Parts: sequence; structure tokens; C-alpha cells
Amino acid sequence: MTQAERVARARASIAARAGEPVELALILGSGLGDLADAVEGAVAIPYAEIAGMAVSTAPSHAGELVLGRLFGRRVALMRGRLHLYEGWPARDIAMPVYLMRSLGARSLVVTNAAGALNPEFRPGEVMLIEDHLNLTGANPLTGPDEPALGPRFPDMSRAYAPELRTATLDAAAAAGIALRRGIYAGIAGPSLETSAERRWLRATGADAVGMSTVIEVIAAHHAGLSVLGLSAITNSATGGPEQLPDTIEEVLAHAKVAGGEIAGLLEATFPRL
Ligand code: 6GU
Repeated sequence: MTQAERVARARASIAARAGEPVELALILGSGLGDLADAVEGAVAIPYAEIAGMAVSTAPSHAGELVLGRLFGRRVALMRGRLHLYEGWPARDIAMPVYLMRSLGARSLVVTNAAGALNPEFRPGEVMLIEDHLNLTGANPLTGPDEPALGPRFPDMSRAYAPELRTATLDAAAAAGIALRRGIYAGIAGPSLETSAERRWLRATGADAVGMSTVIEVIAAHHAGLSVLGLSAITNSATGGPEQLPDTIEEVLAHAKVAGGEIAGLLEATFPRL
């Protein structure tokens, strides 16, 4: 089955619950699902009820598509995302991005939890993603060309929409919200990077590292969506072998702090999108 056929089937399977067309799509990262609770008039569709949808198994990822209104805009929000490390092919991870596009979305907001490679970044801070390095070895567009979905060789030099970045930086400045900016390196995981890989990632220009986002962003850009990416810095990834790993409790606590910042940032930014 082509990806376009899969998307059409998925769309048909939720048509009765889809309601008005959506304006914005959102994908929430690990520990950042609280934003879904702010959706008004929410219709939550479990992934298992969407035809052809992979069902996420990662901890702290609920796995439902939430439709409703957030900060005054009609949204489709993925509470719980799919990861390469769960074994899903990149095409499966991309399918819901095309689905949200077919529901009317013109922009996609992606959030993730990331480790800081930039030594100035502190856990709990938020980074505006200016660009990414796809180091996963995977690409959602591998396979037969599907002109109905997008171009064969999409230009990726402005994958993170400059106008959305400007709007977000302006909104952050106006609201007094601190915001870092930088390059996100996406790795496949599930093992974290080695100490040598940390040094290498930093040397390549990356400011943060994580195991998500890049696959969805390639698909979104392919589909013509404008992308805004935000990383919640949950731990530092700057040290050598002597650095002790953070506990999961510390990481989740930092995700909560950064998640609150992201919610405030999006509330301030949405009127400008
Ligand atoms: Cl891939 N690495 C580290 N060090 N921290 C992370 C991460 C990766 N993803 C989320 N936090």
C-alpha cells in the first residue's frame, strides 16, 4: 500500500470524529504531554482506533490523537509519538504527519526532550530548533516516489520555517520568556551517545541531542507544512566518562519545568502564527 493510500484509509477511519478542519498540528515529546490537557472541546482518538497507525509503547507516551481548540486555534495534537528505537520504520512514524496535513493543518509544532551538548544550556531550559542533523540513518521518504504527497527531492535548507522562528523569538521577547536557539542532532537510539560521540556531535555544530523529531520534520516539510521545533533540555550531555547519568526522576522534573515554559511560549506565539 502506498503512503497516500494509508493516509486516506486512516483519515476515513476517523472521519466521523474529525469535526472542523484543523489549522495547526502538534507532536508532544516525552514528559511534555500536559499541553494536551489545555485543549478545549477535546476529542481524543486512541492510536489503536486509527486504521494503519502504529501504537507507541514508550513510557510517558499515552498514544492518542487529540482534536480541539488550543490557545484559540483548531489543532490536531499527537499525545505520544512514535520512535525509531521502538522498531517502527520511518514511513510509519511519518504517516500521522501526513494524516494531520490531510485534516487541514498548514503548520506543525514539534517538541522533544533533549540532552544539551552546548555547555551554556541548563536542564529546564527551552531551545528553539534552528536546524537539525539527521543522524538516524533513516528517512521517511525512502521508497517509491509519491508525487501526491510531495516532491521527490525536497529542499531541506529551510526545514524549520524562518517566519515561525522569528514569530516565536518575537513572542518570547515580548512575554519575557527565555529561549535558547540551536541545532538538534537526531540519533536512532535507544542507547544514548558515547562520550566520544558527544564530543563528535558537539564538533559537528549540534547544541542538543535526542531520539526523535527529524523523521517527522522531513515528512512535514515534504508535505508542505511550516515547522516550528522546540526542545526541552532535560539533562546535560556535555561531560566525558566521569559525568554521572541523571536519574529518570531528575530528567522528568526538568521536562516538567521546560514543558511549562513551552506551554507559555506557545500561548504567546499562537496569535502570531
Ligand atoms: Cl539521545 N542523549 C542524552 N544524553 N540525553 C537525552 C537524549 C539523548 N534524548 C533525550 N535526552
